Amino acid sequence: MEDKQLIKGLNKILTFEHGHLGMYKNFLDYEDKEIRRVFRRFMEVEIEHINKISTIIRNLGSTPSPLVESGDIIGKLFGITINFANIKDVLKAFSFIEKKSQQGYANFIAELEQNGDKRNDFIAELAAPNMLEAQLMHLWLEDKLKNISSSQN
Ligand SMILES: [Fe+2]
Repeated sequence: MEDKQLIKGLNKILTFEHGHLGMYKNFLDYEDKEIRRVFRRFMEVEIEHINKISTIIRNLGSTPSPLVESGDIIGKLFGITINFANIKDVLKAFSFIEKKSQQGYANFIAELEQNGDKRNDFIAELAAPNMLEAQLMHLWLEDKLKNISSSQN
């Protein structure tokens, strides 16, 4: 992957990661204690993702520059409106977004690995844990959604 294209891809990922942070940073607003605890940790994980991607960009000699850093990033990027008063709606939307994140990382990593170049392989290995964590968050959200649905029916 060309340097310019690589930096562009990383900045795009960084933008999504800022969006993810925005999903969980209001963890205290939730009634469900488990959700408060889990979203707090998810927030910390998203901060780690932002820091890791930013560090990679800096190590490549560039400056992290997400397209959007705050506000309704998710709404802007996915064109979806989340009804925060409805916890099922929140879990469904977040689960969808984490699944998209995992897929986005998978595509990015596959592209990096196509080149068979050592630097790109190294970046792929740095990005892979973020992909795994997006998948873990997606699975937790799906599981919580199932439990909430069955306890309400
Ligand atoms: Fe993330």
